[in-house]
Amino acid sequence: MCPPDHFEVAYVINPWMEGHRANTDGALAYKQWNDLRAIIEQYANVLLEPPQRRLPDMVFTANAGLVLGKKVIVSRFRSAERQGEEPHNHAWFAENGFEILDWPQDLFFEGAGDALFDRGQELLWAGHGFRSDAAVPALLQERLNYKTAALNLIDPRFYHLDTCLCPLAHGYLLYFPAAFDEKSRTSIEALVPADKRIAAEEADALKFCCNAVDLGTHIALNDASEALQDRLRMAGFTPVITSLSEFMKAGGGAKCLTLKLVEA
Ligand code: ARG
Repeated sequence: MCPPDHFEVAYVINPWMEGHRANTDGALAYKQWNDLRAIIEQYANVLLEPPQRRLPDMVFTANAGLVLGKKVIVSRFRSAERQGEEPHNHAWFAENGFEILDWPQDLFFEGAGDALFDRGQELLWAGHGFRSDAAVPALLQERLNYKTAALNLIDPRFYHLDTCLCPLAHGYLLYFPAAFDEKSRTSIEALVPADKRIAAEEADALKFCCNAVDLGTHIALNDASEALQDRLRMAGFTPVITSLSEFMKAGGGAKCLTLKLVEA
């Protein structure tokens, strides 16, 4: 995680940020971030990346890169506003003992924001359409030698894969079907059995219910309806709701604020 010392909405690069320029409460953001951190620390060890001035979106560490074991592909951001994060992410991964894999300089890829490992089968879900380039899924498969399913995102509100899809323990998949084109929906249905698919309604998706931190039995998320929480409980999970309203103004929820460094 990266502390929100310099977090704010300073530019608009997704629809959520519209109208929120200079409209975040720094103290509240810090409290919400600390609350999320405290929840995660009950189940995992949290490492911090030092925040940097004038890089307000650096709090969203999901976008730093994609980690597999001790290997990492460091993100290449589409927007100029976030490209300044790249050297800091490179340095952090190198200092923390990760092997940085080669990645073409001109191929946009926004890390674990757009690439998520399934928790029930050896499969990498890779999103493209808004931030990561269409050529990314095939290259991830080659570089990581890992079976990859390409998913085409079509709703600008769900511009990163982790805003609309969340792999959960035992092969469950929480997702918002309408964020994907038909071909992608069909491939999700072919790869995940019906009883393992938890389809969110639009109202829940707009609360970023799919942007959930998978902590094994527990799931940390910004918000979800009682109906969705019940559905998750029926599948054996305990939803832990923690408001992240300040980060929602930048288009991010719980999962965006984290990057998983170990498979668990
Ligand atoms: N303002 C950030 C952006 O538009 C939010 C990133 C959210 N991160 C994520 N993994 N979905 O890039």
